[in-house]
Amino acid sequence: MGKIIDGKAAASAVRARVKSEVENIIAAGGRKPCLAVVIVGDDPASRIYVRNKVAAAREAGMESRLEDLPASVSQDELISLVNGLNADPEVDGVLVQLPLPSHIDESIIIDTIAPSKDVDGFHPLNVAALQLGRECILPCTPAGIIHLLYREGVQIEGKRAVVIGRSNIVGKPVAKLLLDRHATVTLCHSRTRDLGSVTREADILVTAVGHAGLISADMIKEGAVILDVGMNRSADGHLCGDVDFEGCIGKASLITPVPGGVGPMTIAMLLQNTLKCYKRHVEGA
Ligand code: GUN
Repeated sequence: MGKIIDGKAAASAVRARVKSEVENIIAAGGRKPCLAVVIVGDDPASRIYVRNKVAAAREAGMESRLEDLPASVSQDELISLVNGLNADPEVDGVLVQLPLPSHIDESIIIDTIAPSKDVDGFHPLNVAALQLGRECILPCTPAGIIHLLYREGVQIEGKRAVVIGRSNIVGKPVAKLLLDRHATVTLCHSRTRDLGSVTREADILVTAVGHAGLISADMIKEGAVILDVGMNRSADGHLCGDVDFEGCIGKASLITPVPGGVGPMTIAMLLQNTLKCYKRHVEGA
């Protein structure tokens, strides 16, 4: 029987460490780190994510500003708002929740965020720095996945890692992070032929697709480490990932549940990134 990776406990530990660092900064007379979160429109899932991000920042002792804009906001108005946050010396991190309404070009908005305040690690300069192996702000979910692997003592070097999903937010960056740690990485996607023949090779399998039941027990290797980034509703209305958890737990050595696996790590890493941006900001770096 595989071990369930407790993402909630891992995230709590990171959040407690960030909180204690913030307490020390404030005790030493420092300014509170501040995260600005921008939401446009009323996508219900995005609203929940954003509410959780703001609450987590406050719980860690940070300031958190919520900029809540109607779906009708123009691209130029959103650009002005982001420029204002970039220029505000009291703001350390700027996050614009995606997706944005279709009349707004996401790329233009991401490009507008100051790279030094880009707590999501989505700005092209941060993406390029990651690809070049330079110091950068890591995107939160990929950073959370690597954190979980370290915490569980999983050896990455020399292992076969398979990532399913080629998004800019998860698939591509997590593949790069695994490659940097000397895994042999295969990146699969919707056009991959005979997915099972690839996933059965995986010592480490990361799924970030959004397709309930995509990975069944016959598609994994005995002893595989499974990290499920999927967030889906099953036919009976329950939250579930991309992996058939009940079917795979007997065969995997380690597996993340949904909810309570990778998800909580995203917010923990966001707080860590905000603290990192703050430190660079106050040190004038
Ligand atoms: N939408 C889904 N995931 C994310 C994320 O990590 N950051 C932002 N800004 N939007 C998202």
